[in-house]
Amino acid sequence: MTSGMRKSLANYGDADFSLFLRKAFIKALGYTDEALSRPIVGIVNTDSGYNACHANAPDLIAAASRGVMLAGGIPVPFPVISIQESFANPTSMYLRNLMAMDTEEMIRAQPMDSVILIGGCDKTVPALLMGAASADVPAIMLVTGPMLAGSFRGERIGACTDCRRFWARYRAGEIDAETIEAANSELAPTVGTCSVMGTASTMALAVEALGMMLPGAASAPAVSAERRRLAEQTGARAVAIAAEKLKPSQIMTPAAFVNALRVVLAAGGSTNAIIHLTAMAGRLGFGVDLEKFDALGGETPVLVDMKPTGAHYLEDLHKAGGCAAILCEIRDQLALDCMTITGKTLGETIDAAASWPQEVVRPRANPIHSGGSIAVLHGNLAPDGAIIKQSAATPSMLQHEGRAIVFDSLADLAARLDDPALDVRAEDVLVLRNAGPKGAPGMPEAGYIPIPKKLAAAGVKDMVRISDARMSGTAFGSIVLHIAPESADGGPLALVRNGDRIRLDTKGRRIDLLVSDDELAKRRAALPPLPDGKGKRGYEKLYFETVTQAGQGCDFDFCIPEITRTIP
Ligand code: FES
Repeated sequence: MTSGMRKSLANYGDADFSLFLRKAFIKALGYTDEALSRPIVGIVNTDSGYNACHANAPDLIAAASRGVMLAGGIPVPFPVISIQESFANPTSMYLRNLMAMDTEEMIRAQPMDSVILIGGCDKTVPALLMGAASADVPAIMLVTGPMLAGSFRGERIGACTDCRRFWARYRAGEIDAETIEAANSELAPTVGTCSVMGTASTMALAVEALGMMLPGAASAPAVSAERRRLAEQTGARAVAIAAEKLKPSQIMTPAAFVNALRVVLAAGGSTNAIIHLTAMAGRLGFGVDLEKFDALGGETPVLVDMKPTGAHYLEDLHKAGGCAAILCEIRDQLALDCMTITGKTLGETIDAAASWPQEVVRPRANPIHSGGSIAVLHGNLAPDGAIIKQSAATPSMLQHEGRAIVFDSLADLAARLDDPALDVRAEDVLVLRNAGPKGAPGMPEAGYIPIPKKLAAAGVKDMVRISDARMSGTAFGSIVLHIAPESADGGPLALVRNGDRIRLDTKGRRIDLLVSDDELAKRRAALPPLPDGKGKRGYEKLYFETVTQAGQGCDFDFCIPEITRTIP
C-alpha cells in the first residue's frame, strides 16, 4: 500500500512523473527529501476571521505540529470550510454537509497517512467526522475547546444561554437597551466554543465518549495551556495511528455510538446531537432507531448540572473531571471494550481516570433528572417522529392540550408574533412550520419560538411550542422539535389551522392534532403542490433535492451508504 508523498497522486498517466512534479512543488516550501520521507499528518485548518469559536486554531496547529514532529512525522495543515453559527446564512446546518463533503474530498485528494481534525463550533465537529468516516483514513479529532464564562455586574454569564435569557428579559421590558448592550460585550469573553451544554459542548463530549478524541480533550478551555498540551499529544498520536492504520471505522462502531448517545443523555445534552450522531453513524451504514433511543433515555439519568438547565459552565465540568467523570458514573451502562483513538479500550481509559469530590457531575443515586432527558414522540402530527427535551421543559407543560396558533414560516413569525392584536393566550400552542431541512431551508434553530411580547411582558416564561425546526442546545422550554416529515415535505404539520386543538402527551410519547381523519384528508387535498427544485441552482439545488429528514441525520441521500444495521 502506498504512503506519504506517494499517496493520492495527481493523475497524469505516469505515476513516477506525478511524484516528481509533486516533490518539485512542495520543495518550494523548503522541505528536504528527508522531511518528505516521513509519515504525513494532514491537519485540517478551520481558522476563519468569521469564526471566534476557532480563533485558537493557529495555536493548536502549531502545538499539534510540534507533536507530529516529535513523533517523527511531517505535519501539513490544509484548509476546509469553517462555519460559525451566527455567521452562516441561511443557517449553519445548511452548510454542514458541504463542509463534510469538502473534508472527505480533501482528505482523499491529498497525500496524508493520518489526519487531525480541528473543529469546535456546532456543525464543524459532525461535518469533519462525517467526512473522515467516509474517507476512512486514520483520523483523530481535536476540538478548539470551550470559552471561559464571563461576568456581568456581579453575575456569572456565558454564551449562549445567557444571550437568550438577557434577550428574553429585554423583550419583556425587564432590562433596558443600555443594559443589554453592556451585557453583549461580556457574553463571549474569550475565544472558544459556547461555555454551556450547547451543541458544541455536547458534541465534544459525545466524540470523546465515541473514542475519537484524547481523554480530557472535550472540556479543557480554549485558552488553557492544557488545550495546547492536548494538541501536542494529539499530534504525536496522529503519527502512531498512521503506523497502526487505525481507521475511523474501527472506532466509530455501533457500540461506540451507543456510548456516545448515553453520554449525550447523561449530560442533558443538545437535541441537535441526535441529528449529528445519526448523520455520522449513517456514513458508516448505521441507522439510529429513535424508539430505541427513547428507551435508552429511560435508563440513563441526567447527571450533569450545567447551563442551560443547571448552574455550571464547561470550565467547571473540566475542573470536575470532564467527560471521564460522566463515563465513571455510567460505567456499567457502557460498552467498555470499544477501542479508542489512544489504542486503549474505553474501559481502560475510565480505569485510568482520576476522580475527586465535585458538584458538577451528580452521582447516579442523586440525578438531576431520573431519565429520558430527550423523549421521542409520535402521533398524527409526527408520523416519523419528533423530540422534546423534557429535562429543559416546564414539568407541568409536558402533558398539555391547547389551541393552535399557527405561523406559516419564519417570515410570518417575525411579522406577527409581537403584534398586539395577535389572539394568543399563555395556554395556547405556538406552531411554526416550513422551518425544516427543506422548508426554511437548513432547519434553523427557530424551534425556540420567543414568547409573544405581550405575554412575556405579562410574565409568561414558557409555552408549548412545536415545529419542524431545531433548537439551539443553549435554549430551554417546553418545545417539540424535528417534527417529521417536515411540512415542506408533505408532513401533517402543513394541515394545522389556527384554533385546532393540539395535545402533547409526553408520558404517552405522543403529539396529536385533534382533528378527524376525514377533515385532515380534505385539508390535504386542498394543499398547494409541494415546492420542488425548479429554479434553483448550484449547492442550493443539490441541497434541496437530496437532503434527508431529521431521522436520517439531514445528510444528503447520496452520501449515505446502504444502512446495514440500526442502533442502539
Ligand atoms: Fe460556536 Fe456556540 S457559536 S460554539
